Amino acid sequence: MEHYFTNNENLKSKIRYINFSLDAYNFVFASDNGVFSKNKIDYASLFLVKTFLKSKKKEYASILDVGCGYGFIGITLSKILDTPVDMCDINKRAVHLCEMNIEENKVRATVFLSNIYENIKNSYDLIITNPPTHAGKEVLMSFLKDGLAKLNKDGEIWCVISKDKGAKSVKEGLEKICKCEKIAQSKGFWILLIKN
Ligand SMILES: C[S@@+](CC[C@H](N)C(=O)[O-])C[C@H]1O[C@@H](n2cnc3c(N)ncnc32)[C@H](O)[C@@H]1O
Repeated sequence: MEHYFTNNENLKSKIRYINFSLDAYNFVFASDNGVFSKNKIDYASLFLVKTFLKSKKKEYASILDVGCGYGFIGITLSKILDTPVDMCDINKRAVHLCEMNIEENKVRATVFLSNIYENIKNSYDLIITNPPTHAGKEVLMSFLKDGLAKLNKDGEIWCVISKDKGAKSVKEGLEKICKCEKIAQSKGFWILLIKN
């Protein structure tokens, strides 16, 4: 079975455009077959962005959106916070779309092709992610656990996970090695704030 995160070069391309506004900011996202949430902005990702913007208590000089897809989270934050953002994904088509969307939305962002943090050399004040729950528990936990080593001092990981996809057990697993707090919940999605 093909997942949106596998690289299927044969999947026919059909670019479509998603218009999106948040507060006074307008965005256009190019999307395509074979990427996550290809026809609309994902509810959980939007809940994560809105919760983060409402709840954040400090400034973040360096940000990484890991598993960025076509770039919704990273590009939105880069524009609204006027901050440079790095992004990465394992899906080549998503990375290409993300490059197009960085240019189209005129943000200071860079996207890397990377298996989780494999090609990520920097460390960050904020790692933000809607991780791929369909990729299995091991990949999901790597998105969060391995991110701890990529944080600057007092850095934070913000993530959204569905309760049905194991949010509770992810939280319990993380609590054994670091701080992990549920800071919001909507329609079965939990926002976790994770720190060293
Ligand atoms: C739930 S989607 C979120 C996409 C995007 N952040 C959004 O909000 O629309 C998870 C993303 O993780 C990517 N992904 C899956 N496995 C990965 C891996 N091993 N390394 C990096 N990215 C991965 C998928 O390609 C997908 O784009």
